[in-house]
Amino acid sequence: MMPRNLLSAALLLFAVGCINEGDADNGALLYDEHCATCHGVDGEGVDSLGPALDGNLGDLSDTAILSIIDGGVAGTAMPAFRTVLTPEEQEDILAFLRDEF
Ligand code: HEC
Repeated sequence: MMPRNLLSAALLLFAVGCINEGDADNGALLYDEHCATCHGVDGEGVDSLGPALDGNLGDLSDTAILSIIDGGVAGTAMPAFRTVLTPEEQEDILAFLRDEF
């Protein structure tokens, strides 16, 4: 029995470690640094630079948003952040977007 319980405990720890809920506080800092110029400090958008995100993200899944951050939107000013932000940082920003917008 003992080894089996240990295995379960190990698996549980592993699973918990894999679920990154995203750190919205860190996401806020990253958003200010990398996104606010175009999308506005409060997600209100900036004329001719980027659309409002506040109230605008309801239709987008988490996966879709992460893919936009990672790969940008081809043919638009939305840059790809894959070489700038780690996957964890992108998830932190996502957590911030979901909290605020
Ligand atoms: C240089 C300006 C610029 C920067 C910097 C920028 N964006 Fe964008 N972003 C855009 C533009 C322009 C679009 C609209 C693309 C289109 O026409 O589909 C956009 C689109 C988006 C969308 C999709 C919105 C929608 O309703 O479809 C998301 C989400 C987004 N950006 C998030 C971010 C995040 C998060 C950051 C920072 C990591 C960021 N953007 C940085 C210009 C920018």
